[in-house]
Amino acid sequence: MVKRFAVIGNPIEQSRSPELHFAFAKKLGIELDYQKRLAPIDAFASHVTDFFAQGGSGMNVTVPFKEQAYALCDVLTERAQIAKAVNTLWQQDGKLHGDNTDGQGLVDAILALNWSLQDARILILGAGGATRGVIYPLVKAGAKQIVIANRTLQRAQQLQSDLKGAVPEVELQVMELTALSGEFDLVINATSASLTGEALSLPPELKFHHAYEMAYGKPSTFIDQAKARGVPHTEGFGMLVGQAIEAFSIWHGVKPELKDFL
Ligand code: ATR
Repeated sequence: MVKRFAVIGNPIEQSRSPELHFAFAKKLGIELDYQKRLAPIDAFASHVTDFFAQGGSGMNVTVPFKEQAYALCDVLTERAQIAKAVNTLWQQDGKLHGDNTDGQGLVDAILALNWSLQDARILILGAGGATRGVIYPLVKAGAKQIVIANRTLQRAQQLQSDLKGAVPEVELQVMELTALSGEFDLVINATSASLTGEALSLPPELKFHHAYEMAYGKPSTFIDQAKARGVPHTEGFGMLVGQAIEAFSIWHGVKPELKDFL
């Protein structure tokens, strides 16, 4: 029987996960089914339980359910434990397993651009779930220094104190968004500003050499500023493909090539 997969979220119509998983499957000669599932905000857990009880093989989880998915799992990977969020589910020996492939998706997308992460000095804008999910994979990929800059400094400090034990090998610092300065190899915009159509202004004293916008398909004042400075820049479609590839490889044991799908 063809294995069944799904992506669950609310809203879900916008999700590009089915087209990506079908594209990987076609390229690798695997047959699968992959549907979108809309779950009511208060009925996430029962939808997941029903899906696996009915023989589903794996699920991707998107906004706003990644934290609930984390709480639901019996077994978590190390990176999911650190992210405190899960975007990939599967069942094994009667237990619900969860992983978070977002951070590795970002790392793979950055490396596919031939931007180096080895000994990199990285500035991450924002201190929400998106930032939490990517720090550990960036450190494992070789980052030397990570600065978290946030509008609300206290939230960045909280994240720093939560994560520093998990990544002792990196210098993890915090800054207030308005007080940004220094020079970085890479700046990652992990705020939700572009998603909500808000402007983000970077001070001229801030120097950087590469710019990654996690959002995609939205006007981004962050990308505008990278362009104005002549800095190589990209938006988050590569990360989306990267996280999907990583989920696919967990479920199917084979890993599609990122560059084939960009
Ligand atoms: P996500 O899970 O996508 O990270 P989140 O947890 O709601 O979403 O976090 C959103 C992040 O974007 C926060 O760091 C937020 O800053 P605050 O902690 O100060 O709220 C940041 N953010 C959202 N809108 C912003 C804006 N217009 N300018 C700067 N930062 C913004």
